[in-house]
Amino acid sequence: MKARIIGTGSYLPEEIRTNYDLEKMVDTNHDWIVARTGIVQRRIAGDDECTSDMATIAAQRALEMAGLTAEDIDLIVVGTITGDYPWPATGCLVQAKLGAKNAYAYDISAACSGFLYALSNANDFLMSGRGKRALVIGAETFSRIIDWTDRNTCILFGDGAGAVVLEAQEGDSGVLSCHLYSDGNYWELLHQPGFGAKNPASAAGIEAKLPFLRMEGNEVFKVAVRSLTKVSKEALAANGYTSADVGQFIPHQANLRILEATTKRLGLTSEQSFINVHKYGNTSGATIPIAIDEANRQGLLKEGTLILSAAFGGGFTWGSTLIRW
Ligand SMILES: CC(C)(COP(=O)(O)OP(=O)(O)OC[C@H]1O[C@@H](n2cnc3c(N)ncnc32)[C@H](O)[C@@H]1OP(=O)(O)O)[C@@H](O)C(=O)NCCC(=O)NCCS
Repeated sequence: MKARIIGTGSYLPEEIRTNYDLEKMVDTNHDWIVARTGIVQRRIAGDDECTSDMATIAAQRALEMAGLTAEDIDLIVVGTITGDYPWPATGCLVQAKLGAKNAYAYDISAACSGFLYALSNANDFLMSGRGKRALVIGAETFSRIIDWTDRNTCILFGDGAGAVVLEAQEGDSGVLSCHLYSDGNYWELLHQPGFGAKNPASAAGIEAKLPFLRMEGNEVFKVAVRSLTKVSKEALAANGYTSADVGQFIPHQANLRILEATTKRLGLTSEQSFINVHKYGNTSGATIPIAIDEANRQGLLKEGTLILSAAFGGGFTWGSTLIRW
């Protein structure tokens, strides 16, 4: 018995913000951004769009591909750190919008590793026999927690959502393993200081820009490459595979340089590696399910294809999964 992906979907908001648009907002330029990050453009949610709206559309597309209705779903897990509200969970809002009345729903806060954490959670749920089908979603509206006057961070992130439907099925195809890690000692290198219990809402906090993301880019970069490489090797070794067996490497899309360094250290070719960071930037918890959906719809994922996925994010959190399609 394995948890198999039987449907994928994604949603990217319409507005495209290019590097040239950013040139008009902060002291930066297109060539610098492309050279340091590989990012050419990102999508920005409309004023009337929020995380649960994008997540719902991605989920509907995944359900449609799976040939299921929302009522067939037993569990909804959303990996997000930019939910509509601090609470209730965006998962509950998605449940209501979908009409998934037989599911229970919650969010997972693991930043850019959110989708892999959610996938692991849903896999455990299905393998325990508690339910038959789960919706696993990664969805973010990072544009709302970005300081658009800070050139160090505003160039990197974008908005979007991706979803997969997992079903417990007999056979050898599906999620083969999940390896997850955290190290809270690094929390300060990538975080959002306000507003929460530590720094509750205040006019002084707004003045100090506490609701915006903070990042030490250089430090994050180094730990990310090391961790992604190690946890990817662990996934392959645990299942008795080598890099040569990987059909598609679908990593968290943070930055082209991180992706290329990791791909090289793993001995993977560019044909094995799926990259779309140039189009969407870093959509945090949404990058992996968006990329899985794109790869799937491009016909790159065939029955039996081995998919290696790895993510790294604030917390720090990181992890990998190996999936046989
Ligand atoms: C953010 C990042 C692109 C910066 O690239 P970098 O090569 O490390 O660049 P540095 O931060 O060392 O900055 C180099 C110079 O460029 C400048 N710079 C920073 N942002 C700039 C921008 N948008 N445009 C132009 N110049 C910029 C810096 O001020 C610095 O100038 P100085 O040397 O005069 O001080 C890179 O560190 C990175 O991608 N880190 C990982 C971030 C990430 O992926 N986070 C999410 C993980 S899930």
